[in-house]
Amino acid sequence: MSSPVVATAAMNLHLQSGKTPLHILKDIEFSLAPGEVVAVVGPSGSGKTSLLMVLGGLEQATNGAVSVAGTMLTGRSEDELAIFRRKNLGILFQNFHLIPSMTALENVALALEIAETGQSYSEIMGAATAALTAVGLGDRLDHRPKALSGGEQQRVGLARAIVSKPKLLLADEPTGNLDQDTGAKVIDMMFALARDNGTAVFLITHDPALARRADRVLSMNHGHLTAITQSVPA
Ligand SMILES: Nc1ncnc2c1ncn2[C@@H]1O[C@H](COP(=O)(O)OP(=O)(O)O)[C@@H](O)[C@H]1O
Ligand SMILES: [Mg+2]
Repeated sequence: MSSPVVATAAMNLHLQSGKTPLHILKDIEFSLAPGEVVAVVGPSGSGKTSLLMVLGGLEQATNGAVSVAGTMLTGRSEDELAIFRRKNLGILFQNFHLIPSMTALENVALALEIAETGQSYSEIMGAATAALTAVGLGDRLDHRPKALSGGEQQRVGLARAIVSKPKLLLADEPTGNLDQDTGAKVIDMMFALARDNGTAVFLITHDPALARRADRVLSMNHGHLTAITQSVPA
């Protein structure tokens, strides 16, 4: 059996709001296998984004263990976490976060340059073109974000997130700004690409129909993460 991409144990996140201590994440025990897709649902303010930030090394857990792609994230310096992120992570945001002055191709190529894969310029351009073609945008390579629809921009975001074949893809309500059909298409592509690459997916969504497509659905409530559905062991 291959080792999990994500494993947390007895993990807590405490933050401070002014003088008020906040217990944001409570005793999180959670693991994610290579290629597995997990959806996380739960009310606003329950801690979903906070958990994503901890898994992405963007927020440090207060205590407990967090291992992602074989790296223990607790007690790392900011520099170590930055290197961890660019080698192991893809992130898909609700608001796309594309660079407006760059074409679709340049946006995707930039992610590969940052990942420092050791590829040559022509290899990077080839891989970026292939990723955009895989999301159905092979004829939009030279378009800047403002010349693309919301669904197309999010597909560029997806191509950018997966072009480096990350071990873990983190997505925070990636279809929140798309109509339902467009959102469903983006999610289908995300799942297919993840399976092709063996990428584990952590998907936060408000949409129960999208959540049901995942291998497993988890629920966050007041900082507690619980299983709603469990995949049946093969
Ligand atoms: N940097 C922060 N400092 C203090 N409190 C925060 C911070 N980030 C989030 N919170 C609080 O943590 C709780 C969980 O937030 P969040 O993880 O964004 O929830 P969700 O994504 O489920 O809506 C909320 O009560 C929020 O106000
Ligand atoms: Mg959130």
